[in-house]
Amino acid sequence: MATSSSLTFPSLNLHQFPSTSRRHKPLLLRPAVTASVSERPSIPATTPSQPRTVVSSPPLQQEPAGPKLPLRKIPGDYGLPLIGPIKDRQDYFYNQGRDEYFKSRAFKHRSTVFRANLPPGPTIARDPRVIVLLDGKSFPVLFDVSKVEKKDLFTGTFMPSTELTGGYRILSYLDPSEPNHAKLKQLMFFLLKSSRDRVMPEFHSSYSELFDSLEAELAAKGKAAFGEANDRAAFNFLARSLYGVDPAKTKLGSDGPKLVGKWVVIQISPLLVLGLPRHLEDLLIHTFRLPPFLVKKDYQRLYDFFYTSAVPILDEAERLGISREEACHNLIFATCFNSFGGMKILFPNAVKWIGRAGVGLHTELAREIRSAVRSNGGKITMAAMEQMPLMKSVVYECLRIEPPVALQYGKAKHDFVIESHDSAFEVKEGEMLFGYQPFATKDPRIFERAEEFVPDRFLGEEGEKMLRHVLWSNGPESENPTLSNKQCAGKDFVVLVARLLVVELFLRYDAFEIEVGKSPLGASVTVTSLRKATF
Ligand code: HEM
Repeated sequence: MATSSSLTFPSLNLHQFPSTSRRHKPLLLRPAVTASVSERPSIPATTPSQPRTVVSSPPLQQEPAGPKLPLRKIPGDYGLPLIGPIKDRQDYFYNQGRDEYFKSRAFKHRSTVFRANLPPGPTIARDPRVIVLLDGKSFPVLFDVSKVEKKDLFTGTFMPSTELTGGYRILSYLDPSEPNHAKLKQLMFFLLKSSRDRVMPEFHSSYSELFDSLEAELAAKGKAAFGEANDRAAFNFLARSLYGVDPAKTKLGSDGPKLVGKWVVIQISPLLVLGLPRHLEDLLIHTFRLPPFLVKKDYQRLYDFFYTSAVPILDEAERLGISREEACHNLIFATCFNSFGGMKILFPNAVKWIGRAGVGLHTELAREIRSAVRSNGGKITMAAMEQMPLMKSVVYECLRIEPPVALQYGKAKHDFVIESHDSAFEVKEGEMLFGYQPFATKDPRIFERAEEFVPDRFLGEEGEKMLRHVLWSNGPESENPTLSNKQCAGKDFVVLVARLLVVELFLRYDAFEIEVGKSPLGASVTVTSLRKATF
């Protein structure tokens, strides 16, 4: 999770070569929805004398089978100490913005792998120097835990104070080589398994409340903010489904989303643009840390809620050899940071992309979803959702075109060589690798029409093969989280809830319209019309 995503998503068309990925036949005539409005011309990643290998489906985490690539010194530098990182921070947040920051450097260095400083830099991060990976071929090295260490770098070149998490280093900050990683991840799998039967009914009830409230707001004001309603629905849904507890019936009441919001912002404010006056903001949140005491009371309220609501999970934690206290802090983090934070970004983004795609796609989805539900006795079931190939493809396309967690990191465990499409680069032990996922999953050497939202991209056998290049979960979509990797423990849960959102939406409405604005996390979506189901 990082800085704002806005209306536009400038492209990184570094390559002038055609992709060899499958041609798509759009199902119906739909206007192309593109992620790019950049005026910058396409730039070649190679000098003409370098060999050009065209990769359609490069093996992930493996040496490529093609011709040996030329070894190239990693281009780019970090500038003068202190001055370089501060100047780069200004470019990243204000002068250029995140996408242009990476794109302009890739253009300058004619490479999708280069050196740069990554914010926040001084005084929050000790060392802001990273090796940036922008293409879909080099990026997956970040999933290879035999090559990269994932210790204390969940948020990047700095780590928020553990005072914000009860003094514990939480699972997301642990490398799989640490003994607690497997135990805690096992606990997360237990949590997800034990809540399995509640997910679909609780999603239906929480998101029906969301649609009711959107309709009421729309009737009263002519428009309705999706974000706030989604925060309420997501928090209620997570509490009710994962723990079987309705927050409204506890001391927490309806305060959950607000408390979580403040606690998350304190942790990741060094990476955000909140919209305060520029110099004040840069000093206040990018140069110094906000003190944890600001959210101490809020966090205690969350802790009390989870400690009393998660009794069977805490019992299991003790059986696994984890104290109730450590487990509780981890449950708060997984539920409020990983899950709630993820849904806060993914859901508005999905509504944005599907909304922009227009009524043609809406009609197709409504037809497919309603017919599958009808033939399953009027119920939304897993089996019914398997009969909705377009819906499934649309969800994967949302996760591809705008991965909810954009920034990923890994520290080289030893010297090794990484490869972009065009060159090989030597990485030294201890160097920090950083991948900007939105560019990796819009790599034009892997995906055709990479900048466009193509709803049926993942249909059929050939479409499914491309799922290995969908990387939102910190791993390929074709692989699964395990106790020894760092892939999102909630991968299947997330895909399921995103599918449920689309299904609930098009069971209830024929079409909808939106306006999109900026927000520090994800898109700010305002619903301007909801056309109730007529067939
Ligand atoms: C839309 C929702 C979600 C998104 C976008 C998301 C995304 C991610 C990503 C990108 C990572 C890897 C971070 C890194 O190391 O670079 C991750 C890790 C993790 N996620 Fe999720 N996640 C979501 C929901 C969930 C849910 C529902 C759970 C479980 C309740 C969960 C539990 C975890 C855990 C425990 C890890 C750390 C895994 C490990 O250390 O091996 N996440 N998530």
